[in-house]
Amino acid sequence: MNDNKRTIGLLTSGGDAPGMNAAIRGVVRAAVQNGCQLVGIRDGYTGMLEGQFEPMAIRSVGNIIQRGGTILGTSRCMAFYQPEGRAQGAEQLRRAGIDNLIVIGGDGSFQGAAKLHEEHGIPVVGIPGTIDNDCYGTDETIGFDTAVNTALDGIDRLRDTAESHGRVFFVEVMGRRTGHLALEVGLAGGAIAILVPEIEDDLESIVRLLQNAQEQGRKSSIVVVAEGDTTGGVFTIQQQVQARINVDSRVTVLGHLQRGGAPSARDRVLGGRLGAAAVHAILAGRDGCMVGEVCGHIVETPLQETWERSKPLSAELVNLMYELSG
Ligand code: ADP
Ligand code: F6P
Repeated sequence: MNDNKRTIGLLTSGGDAPGMNAAIRGVVRAAVQNGCQLVGIRDGYTGMLEGQFEPMAIRSVGNIIQRGGTILGTSRCMAFYQPEGRAQGAEQLRRAGIDNLIVIGGDGSFQGAAKLHEEHGIPVVGIPGTIDNDCYGTDETIGFDTAVNTALDGIDRLRDTAESHGRVFFVEVMGRRTGHLALEVGLAGGAIAILVPEIEDDLESIVRLLQNAQEQGRKSSIVVVAEGDTTGGVFTIQQQVQARINVDSRVTVLGHLQRGGAPSARDRVLGGRLGAAAVHAILAGRDGCMVGEVCGHIVETPLQETWERSKPLSAELVNLMYELSG
């Protein structure tokens, strides 16, 4: 097959993330500029199974770079966990004449893509898009930077009311299994403590920090808790702290607000770069990998490593968290 006559299928999967549209634009434009056909697949693996395919051209991705969410739609598709579901998806791709597949999503989406590759020989390239920043092989996933700034905006607002009333706010930020978002948001928001699943919670030291803060005349504090924290969630933590120290406190769960909104400049540029890089990888005959950005350079990582290898929190940022808290 002449590589420049390839038909590439493209889908977004898992939780949406700001900057996914910039990545879609990057894929479509790079593919078309290089003479490939591009087929958009609606609603992730659900649309693949149902054959919801639509051809995309240069103008299909006009005026989307600034939009949050994903114009293709996304889903969590239970049927794709089963071999029969993946066989149905592979059959739909074959019928539509799709030679290569690009999946924009998180490590779960990549696990599904890798199985499609192994079981049905469909060449796949992944692009990391999730606010959790939990994929090995890229310094940042598309959507992380925007989500950090969105959550930070919420925390800045909470600081105003916390200070006026003299309260402690326990703020839950997203992060299903990791604390990348919590750590960055907590540092940028001047939190007194940041609780993440990677580090065992030490409630006594949080209580001490809050007591010291009270003694020093500090009126308000923010404690950031990652959604995936293992102590039992932000409400349990609030109750346990409240039982040990007399403070007026409130809980705020920022939730899905963090997934929406216009992507930051950084996420738009990252989306465009990784979108084009995925097409370049296909044109060079490479597959079974995820394209990412490490230290400013585009790198390709075998798909399996993206979920098998862990992406630890930055040790420097963790130390900074301890040094600056209080
Ligand atoms: P993310 O890609 O953001 O990590 P999920 O973990 O929900 O989000 O994965 C998105 C979709 O990818 C799932 O709904 C499912 O269709 C597919 N998927 C995830 N993990 C697997 C797996 N182990 N095997 C097959 N498909 C999977
Ligand atoms: O994976 C991204 C993420 O936003 C996680 O931080 C969160 O735990 C999860 O998705 C929420 O998923 P849903 O949108 O299905 O509730």
